[in-house]
Amino acid sequence: MRKPMMAGNWKMNMTVAEALTLTRQINQLVGDSTAVEMLLCPPSVCLHPLKALTSDMPFSLGAQNCHWQDSGAFTGEISPPMLRGLAGYVIFGHSERRQLFGETDETVNKKTHAALAHQLTPIVCVGESLEQNERGETSSTITSQVRAALDGLNGEQVQSLVIAYEPIWAIGTGRAATAQTAGEICGLVRNILREVHGAAVAGTTRVLYGGSTKPDNIGSIMQQPDIDGALIGGASLEAHSYADMVKITAELYGA
Ligand code: 13P
Repeated sequence: MRKPMMAGNWKMNMTVAEALTLTRQINQLVGDSTAVEMLLCPPSVCLHPLKALTSDMPFSLGAQNCHWQDSGAFTGEISPPMLRGLAGYVIFGHSERRQLFGETDETVNKKTHAALAHQLTPIVCVGESLEQNERGETSSTITSQVRAALDGLNGEQVQSLVIAYEPIWAIGTGRAATAQTAGEICGLVRNILREVHGAAVAGTTRVLYGGSTKPDNIGSIMQQPDIDGALIGGASLEAHSYADMVKITAELYGA
């Protein structure tokens, strides 16, 4: 019912030439299985060449950010209409953008509305810091981030988007959340969706886990009933590890 997704967030890595090479390598390794949605989120300058390269490959493409306005005097930004046709998805609220570039719950919400208005699927990231985690504030942090990000959206819109739970302390640290904890927090996200929009919406929206996922731990993470995929950083930059994660997931889903 919810198609599993392995989403590679390449962050600020890969020149155009490197991106083309990596994508070709991944393509050779994964075959043409359609059981898992394979989403590549390269730097924006790579989207156009990758769109051309992947026309007959089984990949979806996503951007890592965009502005909420259609156009204007916003030096350095790109807009939803610019992404249309190049990307199907766009990531918002990644903790690196919240911490380093001033992203807030409010701008995440504005961007989410704007992306949906232009037929782009938002991947909304939420996650608690180590301090919040240690103070026992994980649930309250996730609840307020999810509610704020999705404020003003209707059930149909919420059903169409993707939410990624990425505890900040697990990102790039090699210290993933345990599968059980990741599953519980993704379950909490689903409960929030159920409270606000009802069981049908909660049962359809895809919820991903991100933070130090790799071939070694993806199997146990993907066995959690409330986890529909992973938002993968470092391990998505290496063709074999990304392809292995896709294959392990496909096997779990019986494909
Ligand atoms: P790592 O997989 O490198 O921990 O990064 C996770 C992440 O931030 C994905 O968006």
